Amino acid sequence: MQKRKYIIDPGSRFLSVYGDAVMYRQPNVALVRRGRTTEVLAYGNAALEFGTLPEHSVLVRPVSQGVVRQPDVLGAVLRKIFEQFIPLTPFRAVELYVIVPSGLGIVERENVEKAVAAGGYKDITLIEAALAFLPRFDGGDAMVADFGGGVTDVGVINSGGIVSAYTVDIAGDAVDEKIKNVLLQNKNFKIDSAAAERVKCAIGSLYTVDSSAVSVIGQDILDLRNKNYEITATQIAPAIHYCYSRIMDVMESLLTSLPRQKQEEVMLNGLYVAGGGAMMNGLTDYLQRGLRLPVYIDKDPETAVLRYAAKLVSDPRYSAVLGEKGK
Ligand SMILES: Nc1ncnc2c1ncn2[C@@H]1O[C@H](COP(=O)(O)OP(=O)(O)OP(=O)(O)O)[C@@H](O)[C@H]1O
Ligand SMILES: [Mg+2]
Repeated sequence: MQKRKYIIDPGSRFLSVYGDAVMYRQPNVALVRRGRTTEVLAYGNAALEFGTLPEHSVLVRPVSQGVVRQPDVLGAVLRKIFEQFIPLTPFRAVELYVIVPSGLGIVERENVEKAVAAGGYKDITLIEAALAFLPRFDGGDAMVADFGGGVTDVGVINSGGIVSAYTVDIAGDAVDEKIKNVLLQNKNFKIDSAAAERVKCAIGSLYTVDSSAVSVIGQDILDLRNKNYEITATQIAPAIHYCYSRIMDVMESLLTSLPRQKQEEVMLNGLYVAGGGAMMNGLTDYLQRGLRLPVYIDKDPETAVLRYAAKLVSDPRYSAVLGEKGK
């Protein structure tokens, strides 16, 4: 019997389930009522749009900075998603592949497995985000990076698997926080994280000259009045540069820690980039200039890792790097 394979990405921002004509991708958030058991009242967009919250219920983001903090909540959400998209039947062999950051410890990995197993299926394999990029290019050593919301995964990989990888806890959320701080310190203007993210996505840029602007509502902390304020790309540039340069520093040190020959090969093959944070304006030029290697950003970076992973688990050429499962 042909097994059905699904990729699950329990991201800090988005929870995705992909494969076999299923594409679920919604904010990784649940409206939860806790009693003797964890009751999920709504999840994803429906949880965010719930309106007045019922008594004793709270909004929970079960994953932050790439780590599953609340496995019971993630498990309960996955159970509902599976019920809808891949209902459990005795005649259905299902393999689940779960994307995880490279930097997870043993207990953190066990928590991911536990949460996914709560969905009902037991055939679970974890895939490190960096490894998922393998089908994106042919052989050789190359650098890869997944710019997420909570973490950025950076690695050097080749057809034999991961050469080295590192998870940086600077990603989209950190950029939003930094934007808030910069506006507070330099303009006495206070905005919330959601507004900071909107500003980032609208006018955030790594280009040195960028005259975009956007208006946003926030609080003037001097007179405590709410105001509509025009924010320019130049004002938030220091926040964006700070975060992305930290990530680039990690890339550089991964590169320089490689043996000479591998280093040269990576410089030739380049850097493959995906994840929501890869949509930052000017990122290709910024990385190319900083690292002096070719940079390739996926055209649809938000779903890229899912698509790569689906290829990885279905193409027998990659079976060796998946170990036991690849057979
Ligand atoms: N145009 C844009 N410019 C910059 N960042 C963006 C843009 N669009 C989305 N993002 C950021 O992408 C991030 C979400 O990316 P992604 O969906 O890859 O995260 P995730 O997989 O849920 O998180 P993680 O991999 O860290 O667990 C958010 O921080 C969001 O602000
Ligand atoms: Mg991710």
